[in-house]
Amino acid sequence: MRVPVPRQYLMCPPRYFAVDYVINPWMDPDVPVDADRATEQWTVLRDTYRRLGHSVSEIEPQEGLPDMVFAANSGTVLDGRVLGARFRAPERAAEAEHFRRWFVENGFRDVTMPTRVNEAEGDFAWTGRVLLAGTGFRTDPAAHAEAQEVLGVPVVSLRLTDPRFYHLDTALFVLAEATDTEPAQVAYFPGAFSPGSRRTLERLFPDAVLADAEDAACLGLNAVSDGRNVVLPVEATGLADRLAVRDYEPIPLDISELRKSGGGPKCCTLELRK
Ligand code: ARG
Repeated sequence: MRVPVPRQYLMCPPRYFAVDYVINPWMDPDVPVDADRATEQWTVLRDTYRRLGHSVSEIEPQEGLPDMVFAANSGTVLDGRVLGARFRAPERAAEAEHFRRWFVENGFRDVTMPTRVNEAEGDFAWTGRVLLAGTGFRTDPAAHAEAQEVLGVPVVSLRLTDPRFYHLDTALFVLAEATDTEPAQVAYFPGAFSPGSRRTLERLFPDAVLADAEDAACLGLNAVSDGRNVVLPVEATGLADRLAVRDYEPIPLDISELRKSGGGPKCCTLELRK
């Protein structure tokens, strides 16, 4: 039986959510977005975390920032230390300062803003030992070295090569962090990575759960695990089965409105590691 670890999350209600511009291949402003439906789906996600025993804080959404719901992109928090964000797209740039202010006003004393393009947990995944860091579409590889310096943890760079999987968190997630006795476990879609990064992942995680193209195509890897329960998009049935075989508890949710912007459960969820 796997043991869930209580988490603290920061989320942003999708009050002003829309698809008005195109910064990834999922976004099409001609496809209508149902804002009420997005809010319903987001609310179920938030309440699911609370039901699982996690605590969720909320940041006030801002008009004119339709992607602010994707809180994961705005901070990497480890041991209470915060490395903020610097967005590649000018349309999202202002989000970083709203989150910086939230951290400062909510008791985070050690907040550093990056000098390089850094889309935070969109491209950074903590395994309990090393910080996996994606690049190729958004986060600048120089931001990986900056993260190592600011957060004081070893960083492993991984190169993404398929524009549909533009952030690391669209292609990989951590199922269970490493403990004193157990290595970390991750799930990923090999097809999203360069050959060298694939070999690196095989070497680091020989026991990983491998997702297939179908799992990836519904953003099934954009999942959130507490070490036991794995919240993932409802369409990722193959991945859910593979997780169940490994004794994880899949919690499928409908997050289809947010996927119209290239998002899923993980994108909406910034983890506050105190
Ligand atoms: N429309 C947003 C963007 O392209 C989606 C971000 C999704 N967030 C994530 N962590 N993958 O920036």
